[in-house]
Amino acid sequence: MSDLKVGREQWGSRLGFILAAMGSAVGLGNIWRFAYVTGESGGAAFLLIYILCILAIGVPILMAEFTIGRRAQSDVVGSFETLAPGKPWVLAGILGVASAFIILSFYSVVAGWSLHYFVQYFTGGPSLGTEGGYGGYFGEFITSPLQPLIWQFIFMAFTVGIVYVGVKKGIEKSNKILMPLLAVLVIVLAGYSMTLGGTREALNFLFSPDWSSLRDPEVYLAALGQAFFSLSLGMGALITYGSYLSKDHKLPGAAVSVASLDTVFAIIAGLMIFPAVFAFGIAPDDGPGLVFVTLPEIFDNMTGGVLFGLAFFFLLSAAALSSGVSLLEVAVAYFMRKFQWSRQKAAIFIGFIIFILGIPSSLGMGILSDVVIFGRDIFDTMDFIASNVFLPIGGLIIALFVGWGWNKAEVLDASDFGNTPIGNIWIFILRFFAPVAIFLIFLSAIGVI
Ligand code: TRP
Repeated sequence: MSDLKVGREQWGSRLGFILAAMGSAVGLGNIWRFAYVTGESGGAAFLLIYILCILAIGVPILMAEFTIGRRAQSDVVGSFETLAPGKPWVLAGILGVASAFIILSFYSVVAGWSLHYFVQYFTGGPSLGTEGGYGGYFGEFITSPLQPLIWQFIFMAFTVGIVYVGVKKGIEKSNKILMPLLAVLVIVLAGYSMTLGGTREALNFLFSPDWSSLRDPEVYLAALGQAFFSLSLGMGALITYGSYLSKDHKLPGAAVSVASLDTVFAIIAGLMIFPAVFAFGIAPDDGPGLVFVTLPEIFDNMTGGVLFGLAFFFLLSAAALSSGVSLLEVAVAYFMRKFQWSRQKAAIFIGFIIFILGIPSSLGMGILSDVVIFGRDIFDTMDFIASNVFLPIGGLIIALFVGWGWNKAEVLDASDFGNTPIGNIWIFILRFFAPVAIFLIFLSAIGVI
């Protein structure tokens, strides 16, 4: 099989690819989702399980996705059809395209919030009413019917714009500049947040485990879901990105860099958010609004806080954009090949559908807040189905495919590991450890064991 398909787009450089994969991984998941899920799941013990999930399940599956994509040179569905024609593995691809629609539909809601806050800081920060401080402001904003939808739409328009322009010019370029800036800012803000007086409690919360929280089986599923979400795993975003890579780039180094950066990012974001959470007496399990309430408090206390707020929400929106782009690209790449659509047509059409699909998640905060499915509002339901069900199942199928469904010698060659001890350990994890672990975490979360 030839390594390259004529006419398919390619990354301009290895660095461009790594940055794009990092841009996909680092996003709202590291800051917004990591903070509130860690807060709700009890802190340190959760963090430990999360890191174990990244190392023992996440990184191997990340490598599996890169390997599949680069070898098959096709979108998620096409990749399985190329490597295993007529076999049921392609189910992972179909689930992946579905997940792209679902995740981006609610992701764009939160990205819209971030854009709104960014624009607020242009005019001096969120203008507070008399009651409720930043928590009150946030609540009022997200429950209003129209405003959040406008910002969500604007976010989707940007996302479509970048995907419209294409792999090299759009996706690769935007990542190179914005990612390093965000990293610097998060470090600076973490440093400042740790001067606010809540640091002791925060460090305790994040690093000194309360083992009793591990009795709740849902914590494991939450950790697994967060690991998949944060690494952009389990739906073929990294298969799609890997497919724009040619053979002369080494994969394992790229996989380790992406996973390490993503994890370090999340932990530093934790060090930025939790000291402030405790300093301002905010409940760590405050839920999805956590960063939108905590950070404005930080900025309020800083000299030049408005500028920091402006910079922070700009960069958070940019990080959300590079992740949103990877989500949209999964669906666009599939529709382009399957229906012979142009990139432009696919981006606009799918982007619009995803915007529509996201409307209920936004309205569920306010006028549709009575709609509750198994104790979750619409937004949480979309997130739960995608992150805690579809992604792990997708990851499970990907692991099984590379472990069992594909010739081992060929896999080792395609992955750049070759027949080395570490390559064999990787195969072992994909064959046995990861599938069993994912399966057990599922069973325990639904109460079977
Ligand atoms: N990883 C991104 C974040 O942390 C979100 C994301 C982008 C994603 N692409 C994905 C999540 C694919 C799951 C699958 O914000």
